[in-house]
Formats: sequence, C-alpha cells, structure tokens
Amino acid sequence: MRVMKLVTTLMLGAALTSCMPEQGTSDAPATQTADSVADRALALLNQMTLEEKIGQVIQADISAVTPEDLRTYNLGSVLNGGNSAPGGGKVAEPEEWIELADAFWDASTDTSDGGVGIPAIWGTDAVHGHNNVQTATIFPHNSALGATHNPDLMRQIGDVTALEIRATGLDWTFAPTLAVARDDRWGRAYESYSENPELVAEYAAAIIEGLQGLPGDPDFLIGENVMATAKHFVADGGTQYGIDKGDTVGDLQDILDIHAAGYGPAIELGIQSVMASFSSVNGEKMHGSEHLLQDVLRDQYGFEGFVVGDWNGHAEVPGCTATDCVASLDAGVDMYMAPDSWRGVYDSLLAAAEAGELDLERLDEAVLRILEAKIRSGLLDAGRPSDRATSDVSILGNDEHRAVARQAVRESLVLLRNDDSLLPLAPGLNVMVAGSGADSMQQQTGGWTLNWQGTGNSNEEFLTGETIFSGLSTAMSEIGGDAFLSEDGSYDSRPDVAIVVFGEQPYAEYLGDRTDLVFEFDDGENLQLIRELKADGVPVVSVFLTGRPLWV
Ligand code: BGC
Ligand code: BGC
Repeated sequence: MRVMKLVTTLMLGAALTSCMPEQGTSDAPATQTADSVADRALALLNQMTLEEKIGQVIQADISAVTPEDLRTYNLGSVLNGGNSAPGGGKVAEPEEWIELADAFWDASTDTSDGGVGIPAIWGTDAVHGHNNVQTATIFPHNSALGATHNPDLMRQIGDVTALEIRATGLDWTFAPTLAVARDDRWGRAYESYSENPELVAEYAAAIIEGLQGLPGDPDFLIGENVMATAKHFVADGGTQYGIDKGDTVGDLQDILDIHAAGYGPAIELGIQSVMASFSSVNGEKMHGSEHLLQDVLRDQYGFEGFVVGDWNGHAEVPGCTATDCVASLDAGVDMYMAPDSWRGVYDSLLAAAEAGELDLERLDEAVLRILEAKIRSGLLDAGRPSDRATSDVSILGNDEHRAVARQAVRESLVLLRNDDSLLPLAPGLNVMVAGSGADSMQQQTGGWTLNWQGTGNSNEEFLTGETIFSGLSTAMSEIGGDAFLSEDGSYDSRPDVAIVVFGEQPYAEYLGDRTDLVFEFDDGENLQLIRELKADGVPVVSVFLTGRPLWV
C-alpha cells in the first residue's frame, strides 16, 4: 500500500457555455407587506369555486398532465420529476423548457371559462444545479459540499442555481435537502450535507439565502431568486438501518434535536415550502402526522409557508391510496404531489367535499398558504415566462457559473493519504488514467443528473462537461506532461504514474440503499488493477468517486 495514494471525491461535475448573466428585473411589488399579501390571497380565495380550490392544492408531473388539463382542472402546480423533461424525452433543449412554461402559464391564467386564472407554479429538483438541463452548471452533491465546510460557497451555489432555474422559465426548486444522514447505507446519504446537525443548520441558511434572497430585501423570492423547499420533514436521514422511506425511532425531542436542526434557520430565512418525508417517525407516516406537520412545524417552529407532499407520499398513509387521501390534507399537507395520480386525487377530494367529508376550512387554509407563497414570490405579477428578463438560456453553464462549480469541486476533494509526497504530480510526467470512472461523466455526476438515477447517460449527452480524463489531459499538456486513457489499466510502455478512478455507480433514493458499507466485497476488480500496477512498479494515485464513505 505504500505507493497507493487515496483521494476521495464525491460525485462531481461541471458544464459550460458562455455569456454573462443578464441582470433580471424584479417582477413583484417591492412594497408588499404581510398584510397586503394576506388580503390579496383572501380576495382571490373568495372568488374561487370549490373545484378551483381543489385544483389549487394539487401538483401534477409534466409527463402526465397537459396545458389543456391545467385549463380544465385549474391545478395549482406542476413539477418535472427526475425522469421528466418537456417533450416526453429524457432531455430537452433549454428553449423547450421556456416554451412549456409559457404553455402552462397561458393555460392556468386563462379566465375565459370564468375562473380566477391563478398561474400554476413549476417546481423542479435542482438539487445540485439545475440538473435536468444538459447545459446547466452541475455542482457536487451535498455530502461533498459538506466536506468544503464553506457556507459562503453555498450562498454562491444557491445564487447560480436560482439564476439557471429562472433562465429556463421555472419558479421553484425542491431543495435544499436538510437531512442529517446518520446511516451511510441510506441511498440518499449523498443528498445530506452532513451527519453533523450544526453544519446542516449553517448550510441551510446559506443555500436558502442564495436561492431565495433575504427576507425584507426587495428581490426576496423574485427576479433572480426562486422559491426553495426544505426537505424532507422530518428525520428522513435517521431511519433504522438506513432504509429509505423507513422509520426513525426514539425519543421525539432527541430526534428533532438532530434531524430538524436545519429547519429553524430555514424558517428564519423565510423558506416558502417544506416537503413532507416519505418516512415515519416512531411508526407514524409523516404525510399523516398532524403532530409533526402542525404542532411542531407550525406552532412550535413558526413555519408560515405551505407543506408540499412528496411523490405520491400521501399513499404511504395507512388507509390511503395514491388517488385518495383526505387524511394527508387533514394532517397538514397543503399541496399533494400527485404526479400521475392528480386526476384521481382531484376526483376523490371533490367527492369527499360533496359528501360533506372534506374539512372546507382546512381546504381554504391550504389554498391561502399556496396563494400567499405565489404572491410573495411575485408569480402573479411576473408575466409569461418567456417575457421575463431572467428567462435567458444563454447564461446556463456560463464561465462565471462554472467557476463556482470548479471551486466547489476543488474544495470538496478529500485527500486521505499522500505517501511519499507523490502529489502534486510533477510536471512533465507521462500519466496513465485508468479505471471505470476515468472517462465517465455519469459516474462523476451521480444520481439526479439528466435523469433520476443518473444512469444510462452517455458522455455525449453532457453537452459541455469534462470527464476526469479529459480535464487531466488538458491540464497535463499545459504543464508539459502527457496523459493517456486506458480504462482497463493495460499499456504498451510503462507510464510514470497511474491515476486510477473508480467507485460507486450512480443511484438515487431507495435504489441506492445498501446492507453494508464495504466497497467491492466480492469482485475486487479495481483492487486487482491497482495490485498489478504496483507489481509493475507504477506509482498509483487512487481517486474514489463515491456518494458515501465506504470501506476499501
Ligand atoms: C423525492 C423528492 C423529490 C420528488 C420529486 C421524490 O421521489 O423523494 O426528493 O423532490 O420525488 O422529484
Ligand atoms: C421520478 C422522480 C421521483 C421518483 C419517485 C421517478 O420516476 O422521476 O422524480 O423521485 O420517481 O419514485
């Protein structure tokens, strides 16, 4: 092992194109006050029919809803899930995002049927940059950002991400994840900044400030800022055995002390939405927990935005299905994330109302919370997405934005050992770059990149990023050295040094759950490659791409 250097990096990536960001204008009255927002929301509510109110509390996925549906059912929101892009393919041109946003805008604001015409709000999982868009700037995942211990950088990342979301005409991100991951077997461990609640709390404030702006500032939530979501409330990172959607057990106060650490700062910074967790606390599903969603989140912590459900998360509640769950609204979920189930949710809520089984005051309360967030964030006054000054796809992945991502990558690399001071590599060396991760964009970028799992993505689909090999190759030639690629580690003439890049393959959510933390327990393919190089006297720098610490 003496010649083996181990460098850990958590999945990372970068992207490009050029141009300076255009300074957007703010679209909402800078003069709005809590009272004026509440009055305006109430005035709208008073004009709404029961059907419009029910529509307002439902969010559908763009793969399963059309602008025409929005016109008919007056749905309050749309999202693009990890696998949904405009046009139905895996990815779409940046302009297509704006065009579809326009179509949803036109449909939802249409008042020709006598409706109120409240614009639908579009949410996306911009969880490490605006990661469903091919030319966007991709940042390291949260666990890697945690390793930077740099809240200032988080603010900048939030700024850039907000600008790039706005560039495509969207309004809202389902980020940041404020999980405090306590079991690295959890498939979402990399979405957590840290196992340390204090660091998560510090980061929460910084990233939310970057995304939303500061409460009280004239551009809070508007113009170049977006609405953010603190997720997943609560204790998603504390489930037993690290099982996704599992159960966090223990004394409630102890659980909250650890796992709710980020929510206080998030609420102080004016977070507009909180997403309920798929998981349970002491056996109670969060989408059905009035105690946690109402007594704790609102009464105790003072949250004033709206609670959005997770992807059919209401179906997790005992007695509920994806298409029928009054219990979630009762418990405090204000907006159902009903991606493909929206029509059933709409029908069942309406049927419950007609049967006198829906708490209409509770419905009004949920609608008001959603309307208030829309008003605060300037949505009602923003105009068609394509007319907004911030809708400018040329800023996606520009040099300035990429510089922030590069800085984040640099600061998030963790040097574990540097035997014999092999690093930094001397200029002029002939370097072999080997291993499955050497020339793989998807292995660098991980889950939630271009699609949900981050798999099945070829290098060509990342329009502007660089693989580790291509970046090294450029860098080496600039300093008078040379790099060549050999994924399997074979060579004709012996290199001066080998950089072997290996690690986890991409995954997201429960598909990333593990039962142990041993890397490659069975096959040891990478270890074999490194051993052969060592036997041949080639010094090895190991780069480990991973979503979590693993035994190697
Ligand atoms: C995830 C959320 C995400 C949502 C929408 C869910 O499966 O748990 O984190 O925001 O899908 O894509
Ligand atoms: C969606 C994700 C979502 C997941 C939930 C996927 O199809 O694209 O956004 O988180 O389903 O199971």
